[in-house]
Amino acid sequence: MPATPCRVCSGPVREFFDFGEQPLSDAFPLPDQLDGEFSFRLAIGCCESCSMVQLMEEVPRDRMFHEDYPYLSNGSAVMRDHFRAVASRFLRDELAGPDPFIVELGCNDGTMLRTVADAGVRHLGVEPSGGVADLAAARGVRVDKRFFEAETARDILAADGSADVIYAANTLCHIPYIDSILRGVDELLAPSGVFVFEDPYFAEIVRRTSFDQIYDEHFFFFTARSVRAMAARHGLELVDVEELPVHGGEVRYTLARTGAREISPAVGALIERETRSGLTDPTTLDAFAARVNQIRTDLLAFLRAEKAAGRPVVGYGATAKSATVLNFCGIGPDLISHVFDTTPAKQGRLTPGSHIPVRPAEEFADPYPAHAVLFAWNHAEEILAKETAFREAGGRWVLYVPELHVR
Ligand code: SAH
Ligand code: TYD
Ligand code: ZN
Repeated sequence: MPATPCRVCSGPVREFFDFGEQPLSDAFPLPDQLDGEFSFRLAIGCCESCSMVQLMEEVPRDRMFHEDYPYLSNGSAVMRDHFRAVASRFLRDELAGPDPFIVELGCNDGTMLRTVADAGVRHLGVEPSGGVADLAAARGVRVDKRFFEAETARDILAADGSADVIYAANTLCHIPYIDSILRGVDELLAPSGVFVFEDPYFAEIVRRTSFDQIYDEHFFFFTARSVRAMAARHGLELVDVEELPVHGGEVRYTLARTGAREISPAVGALIERETRSGLTDPTTLDAFAARVNQIRTDLLAFLRAEKAAGRPVVGYGATAKSATVLNFCGIGPDLISHVFDTTPAKQGRLTPGSHIPVRPAEEFADPYPAHAVLFAWNHAEEILAKETAFREAGGRWVLYVPELHVR
């Protein structure tokens, strides 16, 4: 197989898992729209030069992020609190000078920036998905409906001046053309400004075997080591890292211009931990691959046994992550009858590729199934707390990370 060059350093990328043909994870078709569903080969590898973990194939961005992109940041109470806290910290630590300015890449429905807007601080959300960008605008957030890249950065600089903070949550890892993003950041960032981004942490994905974090939109899987190397190519320095409990374990990376800020000891400590654990060594990655295959075997065996016993199983949370699980395992409506979800734009539609009907979360109780596979496992605490009646009625949750278990 010819080596695909690394999207960061052009080095050789060694593939370590192939999930086969997969659909767009956030394209929920109507029952009469099943012809010509887009598919691509979902496979993941690790760069042998800079250690950046990345997809082997890229899906064109306009197919994923457009007017009808359904994901909403404000769909979780925990995430709403998280983003309010992020905004408050920026307002206090980075945006207290004269006429501060913050830019958010992938501001989605404005969940983070609304706090900044309410504080009367100059801001701009860059959000190419028109529908969610309109929701942000309706919340009083100023939005630019374009993809952020080097050219967009130049326009923003000309119109608004340099940014004290550039922030991106669960967005930088979505962008294969990351070189253009970093050139844009280099152009737009104020001399003493910070570029802060938070994304799923590859060490947590390996630790939890959360293979469903791997799907079309998640192109990169960062580590402190790979981010530090990437930053250095653009005159930037990784000055801080902070582990976050959200979305199944993330890291918030803070980049500044080389020499502009003191480097926190947390950076060296995390890189040391990654090195000591052999995080991106072929043996670690191959062992991860073996565990993924085991989860597929176990989940299919469980679902087939439940079907044989005539006990209904549903899914909870029509997540993008679930597309990888369902399509990799070959699970359809014969094994999971419905998936329940709070997102209006997913309801009444079918899960991508696997074609399981999505129903409003309020209908979960009529009647409760015997088992519910928790596809939104990253929101387990929040969901289990509000669905206590399900277990009281005898229902059980099925989780497939870090391994198949019922609780
Ligand atoms: N920040 C939000 C949304 C994450 S979803 C949160 O954490 O909940 C990823 C978002 O990135 C989508 O809304 C998508 O439209 C946006 N996006 C994708 N490519 C982008 C780009 N080049 N510039 C800015 N936003 C982008
Ligand atoms: P999420 O896990 O945040 O992300 P992704 O789609 O990127 O994998 O998605 C959570 C999904 O679960 C979203 O479609 C909303 C839904 N959801 C519920 O149905 N009920 C809930 O209580 C929560 C928190 C989420
Ligand atoms: Zn590389």
